[in-house]
Amino acid sequence: MPSHMELLEIASTVAQRAGAFAADRRSHGVSVAETKSSPIDIVTQVDRDTETFIRTALADYRPDDGFFGEEGDADAGSSGLTWVVDPIDGTVNFLYDIPAWSVSIAVVEGGVDPASWTVLAGAVINPAAGELYTAAAGEGAWMGDRPLHVNDGVELDRALVATGFGYLRERKERQGRLVAEVLPRVRDVRRIGSAALDLSAVGQGRLDAFYETGLNPWDHAAGALVAAEAGARVGGLAGAPAGADMLIAAPPSLFDDLERTIAEFWEA
Ligand code: IPD
Ligand code: CA
Repeated sequence: MPSHMELLEIASTVAQRAGAFAADRRSHGVSVAETKSSPIDIVTQVDRDTETFIRTALADYRPDDGFFGEEGDADAGSSGLTWVVDPIDGTVNFLYDIPAWSVSIAVVEGGVDPASWTVLAGAVINPAAGELYTAAAGEGAWMGDRPLHVNDGVELDRALVATGFGYLRERKERQGRLVAEVLPRVRDVRRIGSAALDLSAVGQGRLDAFYETGLNPWDHAAGALVAAEAGARVGGLAGAPAGADMLIAAPPSLFDDLERTIAEFWEA
């Protein structure tokens, strides 16, 4: 098996090439191709084409690995490694030309269920900002060549906490009630619009913490490794692993207080 740093080199190279591809397509204009789980859950042709671009590039480097992306069919592969890809995370920002969308590429061992996988390496690029976040398990996290560290020692009432919302009305109503309880207990709340960038920003210390319910594996595979390798604790509620039910990323000193607040008010 290649080393984590060798896998990171592949993730990082392909993410940069895919980011440039998507940004170039964005510069020529973009429109909604189709809707998915609800009328506001959109996909553009650029999402699809960027996923194909990534899939083809990864297959050149690693033909026996599996592939699990947001837009296409999964492929189990035969090597035991799977690439988990969100070709454009922050698709609504991408559509509106808000410069906070990303390409997220992770490689995992152990299957595509976040509860059972180990993320080995990941890269998240924000092409509009020219910012590349990378992490390799046991090796650290970086933005460009700068090592990343979370903001440790921040109390809940001083914490800048990001979150996000899904595309289904009933879930959004519950998420809205939860954030209404979180907001008065923290410094402020951000809804940036790309979970992969939110998680990377926790690693960077641009945000103190992040939580969201209902994320898909490709939304958090790479970003959660960036956060964790920068010192964040990443998990779910009541000791559960992070997953679709809940993902919280926060410095160890903040995690329990934030988790308790979310657990008190989340209507699962
Ligand atoms: C979405 C973004 C958003 C989060 C949503 C995700 P998409 O991914 O990560 O920040 O709040 O839950 O679905 O649809 O832009 O790939
Ligand atoms: Ca996404």
